[in-house]
Amino acid sequence: MTNSPRKNLKELRSQRWFASDDMRGFAHRQRMQQQGLVREEFMGRPVIGIINTWSELSPCHAHLRERAAAVKRGVLQAGGYPFELPAMSLGEVMVKPTTMIYRNFLAMEVEELLRSLPLDGAVLMGGCDKTTPGLVMGALSMDIPAIFCPAGPMLNDRYKGLTVGAGTHTKKYWEEYVVGNIEQPEWIALEAKMTRAPGTCNTMGTASTMTSIIEAMGLTFPGATSVPAMDAGHTRLAWACGQRAVEMVWEDLRPSRVVTRASLLNGVAAYMALGGSTNAAVHLPAIAGRAGIELSLDDLDEVARRVPVLANIFPSGNRLMEDFFFAGGLPALLNKISAQLDLSTLTVTGKTLGENIAGRICTDDDVIRDPQTPLIAATPESPEAGTALAVVRGNLCPDGAVIKPSAATPRLLRHTGPALVFDSNAEMLAAVNDPDLDADENTVLVLRNGGPVGAPGMPEWGNLPIPKKLLQRGVRDMLRISDSRMSGTHYGTCVLHVAPESAVGGPLALLKTGDVVSLDIGQRRLDMLVSDDELARRRAAWVAPPKAYTRGYVRIYQQEVTQADKGCDFTVLAGNAPTSEPSIY
Ligand code: FES
Ligand code: MG
Repeated sequence: MTNSPRKNLKELRSQRWFASDDMRGFAHRQRMQQQGLVREEFMGRPVIGIINTWSELSPCHAHLRERAAAVKRGVLQAGGYPFELPAMSLGEVMVKPTTMIYRNFLAMEVEELLRSLPLDGAVLMGGCDKTTPGLVMGALSMDIPAIFCPAGPMLNDRYKGLTVGAGTHTKKYWEEYVVGNIEQPEWIALEAKMTRAPGTCNTMGTASTMTSIIEAMGLTFPGATSVPAMDAGHTRLAWACGQRAVEMVWEDLRPSRVVTRASLLNGVAAYMALGGSTNAAVHLPAIAGRAGIELSLDDLDEVARRVPVLANIFPSGNRLMEDFFFAGGLPALLNKISAQLDLSTLTVTGKTLGENIAGRICTDDDVIRDPQTPLIAATPESPEAGTALAVVRGNLCPDGAVIKPSAATPRLLRHTGPALVFDSNAEMLAAVNDPDLDADENTVLVLRNGGPVGAPGMPEWGNLPIPKKLLQRGVRDMLRISDSRMSGTHYGTCVLHVAPESAVGGPLALLKTGDVVSLDIGQRRLDMLVSDDELARRRAAWVAPPKAYTRGYVRIYQQEVTQADKGCDFTVLAGNAPTSEPSIY
């Protein structure tokens, strides 16, 4: 339990705005009453900001206006007063060129909303991919009491008797459509399938990966992340978040007390046991950075080696988040890997992680496997096949690159083949279905200029499509390499996040079509078999590509963003030096 001294009323931040007996205080109270509030409603009680990432172009968050009403009830009944504040909504599929570019924007917005307004605590509402890290990074930097209210996954769907999930099956059916196994009317009808209701992707994509990591870190209630968005329990969860936020204010239970290296490593262990999205390998170092904690790719690789994938959820497995919910959700999974966790970490409930998950057992061992019988069995040829992440280095990626072995083809985890290099996504898309494309199943497809600076924003281009002529021959996977990311709902043998990226002169920029590339997951190596002398010659002739953005937010982004292995945060936002409270005069 927390041993925090309880705050008294005079210590609340909001009192600086609302309690002062001067002209400013008068104006603050006056302006609240301008919108019909009664003085006693907001004075003398914790003021809670509900940071809501709802928008009509964020289908995954379509229900969050209604849920905010439940949060408000919880806040009011606990003796606080709620204000709902809209924040940038990063609907993953709609926002272009990529939501990743705006994660830091959202994080900045959250931090400055919390700082600039009379708030004592916050409920952070969201869940679609980049929203969760954006909300948490901002809350960590401002560091007032905050609880995360995950949006919840969408409901399962079925098609022709098969369980179908968001993202994963879109890709599967697309490949069948490309080769003519599906006719156009069926393809159009499929638009209304797979994404059955509001809520985040029901596969183990980036959304459920990140919300689960945040839950394991202790920033929301145990079990919160798998409660389906359309379940009545989700409304009750929202109410409980509002209640708890008020209590957390009195307990001064700030994110910096919850987020420690130990709680981050608990989050990493959950990530690996879930077979989570490679995107988490970018977000985790960024979140840690906001807490002033070092969390490296090597830390992730180390945990991945000892925590196999246990969750049988697409794309590594064949079930969905609703099944995971019924099987006991994250607390049940954490109990199965409790030996790999630090159960003494403090959480937003005021209790330890161990206390939170005590007795929460798994009720379906097919959905959440046991550590002795993980989802994907290791074989002598492919001992890493059942791991969620491997970090490779070599002369192509001296600062690291990542791959998700559990969603890859085991035989490709050790592969040597000639590179076919594309300088842009547009160039790749124009060429990939050419019947004369010089590629076979041993070719290594390479995309560069897809990184944080180069693309910019590191879009999810890394799951390069299999060339049509090879799809027609039955090829469904090839080794692919890029400085981009990949959707967490996707699968394939894709080496991602190559750092440093090509646009800043990383060695990926020097690779040429025809060069032989070698991946060896066992050795955690990715190399191009090109001599140092030849690479030096190519380096001398290399010219940095021009940056397309000369103004605006994206120009700031390109100047400030760090490389993938460091989390792609802005250099100016990292660290946890305290920022002074704003003057209210
Ligand atoms: Fe929103 Fe997948 S698109 S969670
Ligand atoms: Mg996604």
